[in-house]
Amino acid sequence: MVQVLSEHYQIDHFNDTFALGHYARVLDGLQLQNRLSVAFKVLRNEHLSPDGDIRWEYRAFINEADLLTRLGNSPQVVKLYDCGYLASFQEAPSDGEFVSFATDVRQFGAVIADYAEKGWRPYLALQNLPRAHNLLYLMKPNRPDVRWRLPTEEGLALAFQFGQMLKLAHSAGVVYLDHKLEHVYWDGAVLRVIDFNSSRLLEGFSANEHAQYLRMDVHNLCVGILYPIFTGLSPQKTSLRPMPSGLSEVESRYQDITALDFGVEPSLSPALQALLQRGAAKQLESADQFLDGLAEVCALHGWDLPKQHTTPNNRAARDHMREGLKKLRGGQDQIREARDLFRDAAIMDGITSDLEDELRRLVKAANEMLTHRVIP
Ligand SMILES: Nc1ncnc2c1ncn2[C@@H]1O[C@H](COP(=O)(O)OP(=O)(O)O)[C@@H](O)[C@H]1O
Ligand SMILES: [Mg+2]
Repeated sequence: MVQVLSEHYQIDHFNDTFALGHYARVLDGLQLQNRLSVAFKVLRNEHLSPDGDIRWEYRAFINEADLLTRLGNSPQVVKLYDCGYLASFQEAPSDGEFVSFATDVRQFGAVIADYAEKGWRPYLALQNLPRAHNLLYLMKPNRPDVRWRLPTEEGLALAFQFGQMLKLAHSAGVVYLDHKLEHVYWDGAVLRVIDFNSSRLLEGFSANEHAQYLRMDVHNLCVGILYPIFTGLSPQKTSLRPMPSGLSEVESRYQDITALDFGVEPSLSPALQALLQRGAAKQLESADQFLDGLAEVCALHGWDLPKQHTTPNNRAARDHMREGLKKLRGGQDQIREARDLFRDAAIMDGITSDLEDELRRLVKAANEMLTHRVIP
């Protein structure tokens, strides 16, 4: 049933400006009926074709909605709330006619030809994740001489949750493939992953090809996510920046990287380095193999897991470390808040230059502290 977009969604600002995607523009939005905050992901106009044939980028929306539904029981996978097509040609659509299929992905796909012919664009309404938790946004340095890395304890927790997500995806016949920091959200405890439109359902592949895809998925995790979070560098050894993301780039992006250089982080756990090297060398065949190797590394860091136990001393030291990391995160948040208060005050009308100069000095000093922060 055709409805009016502005009666169902309030569409706000673009939220993708720090890491533009190839397929879509993404806006903050509000689903009006249940006051739900959404990320509103809509096909870029440039992928509409004038003769009405349906480009891969258009189909990719159906692929993504389908995979998100198949993986809906993974806590790490971003939630899909709604999908459909809209008539507006505005880069930031806010009104006009639209049709919604809620989470009926089969129907969404069944009518693709009708809406492509009308020149309507597909959209997805997704769980809206806070930009301040996006790992590229957090880790991309603002100065060339700066680099941040996650504390090992947090990086292991992230790796563990990513491994579990891949395990579940692989058992559903899905490979993620598009591993890069701009697709990963981390709040210090819980991982969430977005953008499944370059991911694949493994159908019609030989056993050999199937096995290669699983290996590639673990490889991409080690190279594209874990290397950057533990070193603050991209796997190409440059400083962190958004990665290209067309169809051909996704599967070739990390293909040639079969060894990792940990020279900048010599104190990183040798066991962890060795595990990531095995992944990079495509020697890890499955998410399970990765998780088994990771459990051994975790035990060395004071973790207790079903298959791996640590010692009481390690356990106690880890407890202290976790408590300390929590305090560090809280402390950094407070420094940011203080900086923002100084900054807001410095631009208030009618204040003396004596006050303004002092406020600016404080902003600068707080920013210096944040540049040397421990946690990204
Ligand atoms: N669920 C979401 N919550 C918050 N921001 C999002 C969400 N999905 C996408 N974004 C933002 O939009 C950008 C592009 O989205 P993405 O899904 O990667 O599009 P594409 O398929 O075009 O690569 C992301 O890098 C992120 O900044
Ligand atoms: Mg993307």
